[in-house]
Amino acid sequence: MKKITTQIENFQYFYPYTVAIVGAQSGNQTNYMACAWHTALSFDPPLFGVLVAKKRLTYQVISEAKEFTVNFISSERVKLSAQMGRKSGHDMDKIKEFQIKLSPSKIIQTPVIDEAYVSFECKVADVRAYGDHDLFVGEVLAIHEDEKSFNPEGVLNTGKIHPLLYLGSDFYITINPDTIKHVLPD
Ligand SMILES: Cc1cc2nc3c(=O)[nH]c(=O)nc-3n(C[C@H](O)[C@H](O)[C@H](O)COP(=O)(O)O)c2cc1C
Repeated sequence: MKKITTQIENFQYFYPYTVAIVGAQSGNQTNYMACAWHTALSFDPPLFGVLVAKKRLTYQVISEAKEFTVNFISSERVKLSAQMGRKSGHDMDKIKEFQIKLSPSKIIQTPVIDEAYVSFECKVADVRAYGDHDLFVGEVLAIHEDEKSFNPEGVLNTGKIHPLLYLGSDFYITINPDTIKHVLPD
Protein backbone atom coordinates (compact mmCIF):
# COMPACT_ATOMS: atom_id res chain seq x y z
CA MET A 1 0.00 0.00 0.00
CA LYS A 2 1.29 3.44 -0.91
CA LYS A 3 0.27 6.62 0.87
CA ILE A 4 -0.83 9.34 -1.57
CA THR A 5 -0.63 12.98 -0.49
CA THR A 6 -2.19 15.91 -2.32
CA GLN A 7 -1.67 18.50 0.45
CA ILE A 8 2.07 18.81 -0.06
CA GLU A 9 3.88 20.42 2.86
CA ASN A 10 7.12 18.59 3.54
CA PHE A 11 8.50 18.49 -0.01
CA GLN A 12 11.87 16.79 0.43
CA TYR A 13 11.38 13.27 -0.84
CA PHE A 14 14.04 13.58 -3.55
CA TYR A 15 17.10 13.49 -1.27
CA PRO A 16 19.95 12.42 -1.04
CA TYR A 17 21.63 15.21 -3.01
CA THR A 18 25.28 16.24 -2.84
CA VAL A 19 26.02 19.36 -0.82
CA ALA A 20 27.77 22.29 -2.46
CA ILE A 21 28.93 25.44 -0.73
CA VAL A 22 27.90 28.27 -3.02
CA GLY A 23 28.76 31.93 -2.71
CA ALA A 24 30.12 35.10 -4.15
CA GLN A 25 32.15 38.19 -3.44
CA SER A 26 30.83 41.64 -4.18
CA GLY A 27 32.87 44.66 -3.08
CA ASN A 28 34.13 43.83 0.41
CA GLN A 29 31.37 41.30 1.12
CA THR A 30 32.09 37.59 0.66
CA ASN A 31 29.40 35.10 1.63
CA TYR A 32 28.67 31.41 1.11
CA MET A 33 25.77 29.11 1.96
CA ALA A 34 25.11 25.37 1.83
CA CYS A 35 23.27 24.46 -1.37
CA ALA A 36 21.75 21.08 -2.11
CA TRP A 37 19.53 22.31 -4.94
CA HIS A 38 21.94 22.46 -7.82
CA THR A 39 22.18 20.86 -11.23
CA ALA A 40 24.29 20.62 -14.36
CA LEU A 41 22.35 22.10 -17.30
CA SER A 42 24.58 21.80 -20.36
CA PHE A 43 27.91 20.26 -21.43
CA ASP A 44 28.55 22.73 -24.26
CA PRO A 45 28.65 25.44 -23.14
CA PRO A 46 29.24 24.13 -19.62
CA LEU A 47 26.29 25.50 -17.61
CA PHE A 48 25.61 24.81 -13.94
CA GLY A 49 22.53 25.98 -12.03
CA VAL A 50 22.06 26.75 -8.34
CA LEU A 51 18.72 27.49 -6.68
CA VAL A 52 18.83 30.21 -4.06
CA ALA A 53 15.91 31.63 -2.05
CA LYS A 54 15.55 35.41 -2.23
CA LYS A 55 15.89 35.86 1.53
CA ARG A 56 19.44 34.45 1.64
CA LEU A 57 22.31 36.94 1.84
CA THR A 58 23.95 34.77 -0.83
CA TYR A 59 21.10 35.72 -3.21
CA GLN A 60 21.95 39.40 -2.77
CA VAL A 61 25.69 38.89 -3.15
CA ILE A 62 25.43 36.67 -6.26
CA SER A 63 22.96 39.16 -7.80
CA GLU A 64 25.45 41.99 -7.30
CA ALA A 65 28.59 40.05 -8.23
CA LYS A 66 27.04 38.33 -11.28
CA GLU A 67 29.34 35.40 -10.54
CA PHE A 68 29.65 32.62 -7.96
CA THR A 69 31.71 29.60 -7.02
CA VAL A 70 30.34 26.11 -6.41
CA ASN A 71 32.43 24.09 -3.94
CA PHE A 72 31.86 20.38 -3.27
CA ILE A 73 33.01 19.09 0.10
CA SER A 74 33.59 15.63 1.53
CA SER A 75 31.65 14.09 4.39
CA GLU A 76 34.56 14.69 6.77
CA ARG A 77 33.68 18.41 6.48
CA VAL A 78 29.99 18.00 7.27
CA LYS A 79 30.28 20.68 9.98
CA LEU A 80 31.05 23.27 7.31
CA SER A 81 27.70 22.48 5.69
CA ALA A 82 25.86 23.03 8.98
CA GLN A 83 27.77 26.27 9.58
CA MET A 84 27.11 27.63 6.07
CA GLY A 85 23.57 26.25 5.93
CA ARG A 86 22.19 27.03 9.36
CA LYS A 87 23.76 30.45 9.96
CA SER A 88 23.19 33.51 7.81
CA GLY A 89 25.61 36.15 6.64
CA HIS A 90 22.78 38.58 7.49
CA ASP A 91 23.78 38.02 11.15
CA MET A 92 27.52 37.32 11.07
CA ASP A 93 30.62 37.14 8.92
CA LYS A 94 30.68 33.36 8.40
CA ILE A 95 34.12 33.36 6.77
CA LYS A 96 35.68 35.05 9.81
CA GLU A 97 33.59 33.29 12.46
CA PHE A 98 34.26 29.78 11.11
CA GLN A 99 37.78 30.55 9.82
CA ILE A 100 37.06 29.40 6.27
CA LYS A 101 40.21 29.23 4.15
CA LEU A 102 39.75 30.69 0.67
CA SER A 103 41.91 30.63 -2.46
CA PRO A 104 41.85 33.06 -5.36
CA SER A 105 39.94 32.08 -8.45
CA LYS A 106 41.67 32.00 -11.83
CA ILE A 107 39.13 34.09 -13.79
CA ILE A 108 36.48 35.60 -11.47
CA GLN A 109 36.79 37.72 -8.30
CA THR A 110 34.95 35.30 -5.99
CA PRO A 111 37.35 32.93 -4.20
CA VAL A 112 36.99 29.15 -4.04
CA ILE A 113 36.87 27.23 -0.74
CA ASP A 114 40.24 25.60 -0.05
CA GLU A 115 39.01 22.34 1.42
CA ALA A 116 36.57 21.58 -1.40
CA TYR A 117 37.66 18.58 -3.49
CA VAL A 118 36.31 20.32 -6.59
CA SER A 119 35.18 23.91 -7.23
CA PHE A 120 33.64 25.67 -10.22
CA GLU A 121 34.14 29.32 -11.12
CA CYS A 122 30.89 30.53 -12.69
CA LYS A 123 29.77 33.69 -14.42
CA VAL A 124 26.01 34.32 -14.21
CA ALA A 125 24.50 33.67 -17.65
CA ASP A 126 20.83 33.80 -16.68
CA VAL A 127 18.53 34.15 -13.65
CA ARG A 128 14.96 32.96 -13.46
CA ALA A 129 12.45 32.79 -10.60
CA TYR A 130 10.73 29.49 -9.82
CA GLY A 131 8.34 29.93 -6.91
CA ASP A 132 10.29 30.71 -3.77
CA HIS A 133 13.75 30.05 -5.28
CA ASP A 134 15.62 31.66 -8.17
CA LEU A 135 17.71 29.61 -10.56
CA PHE A 136 21.09 31.23 -11.16
CA VAL A 137 22.58 29.70 -14.28
CA GLY A 138 26.36 29.93 -14.31
CA GLU A 139 28.71 29.43 -17.20
CA VAL A 140 31.58 27.37 -15.79
CA LEU A 141 34.80 29.22 -16.62
CA ALA A 142 37.28 27.22 -14.55
CA ILE A 143 37.39 24.06 -12.46
CA HIS A 144 39.71 23.50 -9.50
CA GLU A 145 40.09 19.83 -8.58
CA ASP A 146 42.03 18.28 -5.78
CA GLU A 147 44.72 15.93 -7.12
CA LYS A 148 43.54 12.35 -7.65
CA SER A 149 39.91 13.17 -6.71
CA PHE A 150 38.77 12.11 -10.19
CA ASN A 151 40.02 9.37 -12.52
CA PRO A 152 41.03 10.23 -16.12
CA GLU A 153 37.38 9.76 -17.29
CA GLY A 154 36.29 12.35 -14.74
CA VAL A 155 34.67 9.79 -12.43
CA LEU A 156 34.97 10.47 -8.69
CA ASN A 157 37.72 8.47 -6.98
CA THR A 158 35.53 6.95 -4.30
CA GLY A 159 38.57 5.37 -2.62
CA LYS A 160 39.82 8.86 -1.82
CA ILE A 161 36.75 11.10 -1.66
CA HIS A 162 33.64 10.47 0.42
CA PRO A 163 31.16 12.97 -1.02
CA LEU A 164 28.79 14.70 1.40
CA LEU A 165 25.15 13.86 0.73
CA TYR A 166 22.21 15.67 2.32
CA LEU A 167 19.10 13.80 3.47
CA GLY A 168 17.03 16.82 4.50
CA SER A 169 16.50 18.40 7.93
CA ASP A 170 19.96 18.18 9.58
CA PHE A 171 20.85 14.68 8.38
CA TYR A 172 23.77 13.69 6.18
CA ILE A 173 25.26 10.49 4.80
CA THR A 174 28.01 9.41 2.42
CA ILE A 175 28.41 6.61 -0.13
CA ASN A 176 29.81 3.13 0.43
CA PRO A 177 32.62 2.69 -2.16
CA ASP A 178 32.26 -1.12 -1.91
CA THR A 179 28.97 -0.83 -3.83
CA ILE A 180 30.54 0.70 -6.97
CA LYS A 181 29.62 -1.09 -10.24
CA HIS A 182 30.90 -0.52 -13.78
CA VAL A 183 27.92 -1.58 -15.89
CA LEU A 184 27.60 -1.84 -19.68
CA PRO A 185 24.39 -2.61 -21.61
CA ASP A 186 26.13 -5.76 -23.13
C1 LIG B 1 22.50 21.02 3.59
C2 LIG B 1 21.74 22.29 3.27
C3 LIG B 1 21.38 22.55 1.96
C4 LIG B 1 20.72 23.75 1.63
N1 LIG B 1 20.37 23.98 0.33
C5 LIG B 1 19.82 25.18 0.00
C6 LIG B 1 19.53 25.48 -1.37
O1 LIG B 1 19.75 24.67 -2.27
N2 LIG B 1 18.99 26.70 -1.65
C7 LIG B 1 18.73 27.62 -0.69
O2 LIG B 1 18.25 28.72 -0.99
N3 LIG B 1 19.00 27.36 0.63
C8 LIG B 1 19.55 26.18 0.98
N4 LIG B 1 19.86 25.91 2.27
C9 LIG B 1 19.64 26.95 3.29
C10 LIG B 1 20.76 28.00 3.31
O3 LIG B 1 22.04 27.40 3.21
C11 LIG B 1 20.68 28.76 4.66
O4 LIG B 1 19.45 29.42 4.76
C12 LIG B 1 21.84 29.71 4.88
O5 LIG B 1 21.83 30.08 6.23
C13 LIG B 1 21.76 30.95 4.01
O6 LIG B 1 22.85 31.75 4.32
P1 LIG B 1 23.01 33.26 3.84
O7 LIG B 1 21.82 34.04 4.39
O8 LIG B 1 24.30 33.67 4.47
O9 LIG B 1 23.04 33.24 2.35
C14 LIG B 1 20.44 24.70 2.64
C15 LIG B 1 20.78 24.41 3.98
C16 LIG B 1 21.43 23.22 4.28
C17 LIG B 1 21.79 22.92 5.72
